[in-house]
Amino acid sequence: MTEAPVLTIDGPSGAGKGTVSRIVARRLGWRFLDSGAIYRALAWAARRRGVDLNDPDAVARVAGEMELEFICDDDVKVLVDGEDVTDRLHTEECGRIASKIAAYPQVRRALLDKQRAFRRPPGLVADGRDMGTVVFPDAPYKVFLTASAEERARRRYLQLKAQGLDVNLDQIIKDLEERDRRDREREESPLVPAKDAVVIDSSDLSIDEVVDRVLALLPATVKNPSGATVSSGSGGEDQP
Ligand code: DC
Repeated sequence: MTEAPVLTIDGPSGAGKGTVSRIVARRLGWRFLDSGAIYRALAWAARRRGVDLNDPDAVARVAGEMELEFICDDDVKVLVDGEDVTDRLHTEECGRIASKIAAYPQVRRALLDKQRAFRRPPGLVADGRDMGTVVFPDAPYKVFLTASAEERARRRYLQLKAQGLDVNLDQIIKDLEERDRRDREREESPLVPAKDAVVIDSSDLSIDEVVDRVLALLPATVKNPSGATVSSGSGGEDQP
């Protein structure tokens, strides 16, 4: 049996991968993998269990043991060992720990199969840092979505402010640059575009424009297997 097609969308934090990936997945009627949420869930589980976060083997053991479930309704819910932790994964602290433990080769290896298990018909949109380089190197469609550090920090600032949080733009820029540096410079699966990825800079593009550019990379037969018309604006998110 031929494997289900995969569209990988990699890039640094704040480039818009999550939003774009979700819209594209809905549009195509494909499954969606938020691999960052897996690293965040592990960060949460390791901390919850009181594991030494500086011990790669201990954190990797948690990765093997934890039961991870994604429930996809209108929103994606993440369950760790049966507990809904969705709301706890988006804190800056959780992101920082996730970035730290994501540098451990043992951890990345322990999470490979969990991520590959998402590849099922009719297809998968996979959002992350190494989706096109390591997890799904044979994916037929690959995007590397980026944006300037200032623009990414500005988006994150607006997002956190909208959640009512007291945030400081300079601190966000500092955190973002630190996380980027760690994700790019780690030895294991660093954040780099796959050789066969199409690079899209979203700094001056709207979400609709990015979605259009991503969808334009897929052949009509994939976007539209039954021959029905598929619109490319973001208005019809619920329609496959
Ligand atoms: O996309 P995100 O901010 O939710 O990801 C959280 C951290 O997880 C990020 O700093 C790096 C790590 N990560 C990774 O190393 N590889 C992935 N495929 C996804 C995330």
